[in-house]
Amino acid sequence: MAIVNTNEMLADARHKHYAVGAFNVENMEFVQAVIWAAEEMNSPVIVQTSVNTLKYATPEMFISMVKSCADTVKVPVAIHLDHGSTLFNVMTCIKAGYKSVMFDGSMLPYEKNVEQTRLVVELCKSIDVSVEAELGAISGKEGAPEESTSLYTDPDVAEDFVNRTGVDSLAVSIGTVHGLYKATPKLDYNRLSTIRNRIEAPLVLHGASGLTIDHLRECIARGITKVNIATELRCAWSETVRKYSIDNPKVYDPKKASKLAREEVMKVVKEKILILGSNSMA
Ligand code: G3H
Ligand code: ZN
Repeated sequence: MAIVNTNEMLADARHKHYAVGAFNVENMEFVQAVIWAAEEMNSPVIVQTSVNTLKYATPEMFISMVKSCADTVKVPVAIHLDHGSTLFNVMTCIKAGYKSVMFDGSMLPYEKNVEQTRLVVELCKSIDVSVEAELGAISGKEGAPEESTSLYTDPDVAEDFVNRTGVDSLAVSIGTVHGLYKATPKLDYNRLSTIRNRIEAPLVLHGASGLTIDHLRECIARGITKVNIATELRCAWSETVRKYSIDNPKVYDPKKASKLAREEVMKVVKEKILILGSNSMA
């Protein structure tokens, strides 16, 4: 199937009360694991690349891998830029063929975030590319102090932001963090419900690695329709490769460890698809 943008899949998820998994990929085996898992589960899926990953390999390389893998399956596959923070990030991905981008201006002063996000939306609307934006800050790798509720998304501001920018989806800050959790997080579900009641656009949950099944299901019940998962896949990959290398110090074929690691990543993706309820929704 050809690559699609994320608008249609997120609209379906919003309507039917499930969420689409957006899985960060690092290399060819991650791309295969995510798309093959989605095919097995008959689920729509979003493959996404961070700006750092795009320094490791180009958007052209990732889109080629995603396209050739998506061509072999029947489920809808989208490729999305995760946490793009400059117009340059956005444009290089669109030029390569991405049909969905995140412009993350959450660290900018509010009016600047509105202005720059609106510009990205205007550019993208004319070429049928979906745009996700962020309000508030999701701590961890983005550099904000952990668990600072002052950085949570304000529902009034979210409403104003979506109205003024026309963004297709909005990442909200309700207590999740990027990376590994030091303790079980306490999510601000009431805030999520309030935001949901104010705006129509699909809502996105970042920092989903390490959340419990209950966390994820409650967030989906309250209106989250895209769930971003990166760290758990990286852990599955790294732990498998590390163990294989320790147990097999004389093996020099990288495919051996990579094949096992790809299977482990695939298992995590399938588990998440079941929790998000996107299985059989393709
Ligand atoms: O944008 C990517 C995600 O928010 C992933 O977060 O690494 O905590 O799963 P995570
Ligand atoms: Zn994120």
